[in-house]
Amino acid sequence: MSDKPICRICGGALREFLDLGPQPMGNAFVPPDKRDDEAFAFRFRLAVAMCEACTMVQLIDYVQHDQMFHSAYPYRSSGSSVMRAHFEDLAGRFLSEELTGSDPFIVELGSNDGIMLHTIAKAGVRHLGVEPCGDVAEVGRSNGIRVVNEFFDEDLAARILADDGKADVVFAANTFSHIDFLDSILRGIKNLLAPGGVFVFEDPYFGDIVQRASFDQIYDEHIFFFTARSVQDMAARYGLELVDVELLPVHGGELRCVLAHTGARPVSPAVTELLKQEEEQGLTDSATLTRFADGVRELGENLVARLRELRDQGKRVVGYGATAKSTTLLNYCGITPDLVSFICDSTAEKQGRLTPGTLIPIESPEAFADPYPDYALLLAWNHKDEILEKEAAFREAGGRWIHYVPDVRID
Ligand code: SAH
Ligand code: TMP
Ligand code: ZN
Repeated sequence: MSDKPICRICGGALREFLDLGPQPMGNAFVPPDKRDDEAFAFRFRLAVAMCEACTMVQLIDYVQHDQMFHSAYPYRSSGSSVMRAHFEDLAGRFLSEELTGSDPFIVELGSNDGIMLHTIAKAGVRHLGVEPCGDVAEVGRSNGIRVVNEFFDEDLAARILADDGKADVVFAANTFSHIDFLDSILRGIKNLLAPGGVFVFEDPYFGDIVQRASFDQIYDEHIFFFTARSVQDMAARYGLELVDVELLPVHGGELRCVLAHTGARPVSPAVTELLKQEEEQGLTDSATLTRFADGVRELGENLVARLRELRDQGKRVVGYGATAKSTTLLNYCGITPDLVSFICDSTAEKQGRLTPGTLIPIESPEAFADPYPDYALLLAWNHKDEILEKEAAFREAGGRWIHYVPDVRID
């Protein structure tokens, strides 16, 4: 008999509520010469559970961190102008609100290509990016930021503390939820943070995932799905306190959390408000989770039915945005090149490769208009406004977009 899975935060019992089947890694885009090996390549069971004790939503099985994050990791944060503006704005806020002492210091986990820290570097403020993926760490350096090419953990935190002193801000965007060893991370941050400092992180919000049935937010790198309640409980275990929250429109709906040393800062009314809202919505009630899982199955069936209809009518459908999210969608629904002939994506590192598990070719955005397809499946739905504006000529030429969040819709 296998051991029952337990919560990685508190050791409580896990209750599974969704199984998306065997899945490849979200960002494991396949080089064309490896296509014949893909049927036998790595898969893991992508299943999600909630902890019955602390309510943390989390993957049951997960992939080792060095399998996901390595020198050839293809994700480049700066591919979206909306995200560039988002992080420039946030960096401005850090500079005016938090990094105001005599010699302030900020550490970012998952600094990627320097999308946030380049603004801090330009302002001449002491900073350190922590980025374990070698190629993108190098891109960050070329964008003028100081980077250590390692995984952040308790040991690295101690070395940063010895070399650079305490941090006024520790920041992590779309990174904290990607790490299975949060215990070491939180102990490291507790030691590294200045007495009045803050740890700020932003990740997909579980409330938005449930509300939009956006199950493609679930893939290997997204190990935890936070709520105000589960973060408050987790922080308290490490002598930290949730002092502020903000709901963000980016990446399909995210939660920004601000943690401080317990008692060091007043708790914002926004925390109480969001906790109340989650309670009223019954966000982690088993009835809500069951409804969510039923909605996922229905959405998947509807999407495949529409794509088959279009194929049978002889229409040409291409995908837009080879996101890690779409790996879950395509594999769960069994969408292969007979339904979506190729996917265009602006990331050079993804072009010329094939989607993990489903082997749909990835091409550059120029291929989109050459000639336009009849329909485009918007896989990068979290960048909808930016992409629809950029590709306005497609719609004007008679092309139609297929959306699937929060439900399947063609317009
Ligand atoms: N912050 C960027 C990048 C998110 S992608 C953005 O919001 O767009 C996630 C990043 O986290 C990757 O670049 C990955 O290399 C990094 N990462 C993963 N585990 C990490 C760890 N333990 N410490 C620091 N960075 C980590
Ligand atoms: P993300 O959802 O993880 O941010 O990934 C978005 C993907 O979509 C990324 O591979 C880049 C791609 N993309 C485009 O191809 N064109 C665009 O205009 C935008 C915003 C993203
Ligand atoms: Zn727990």
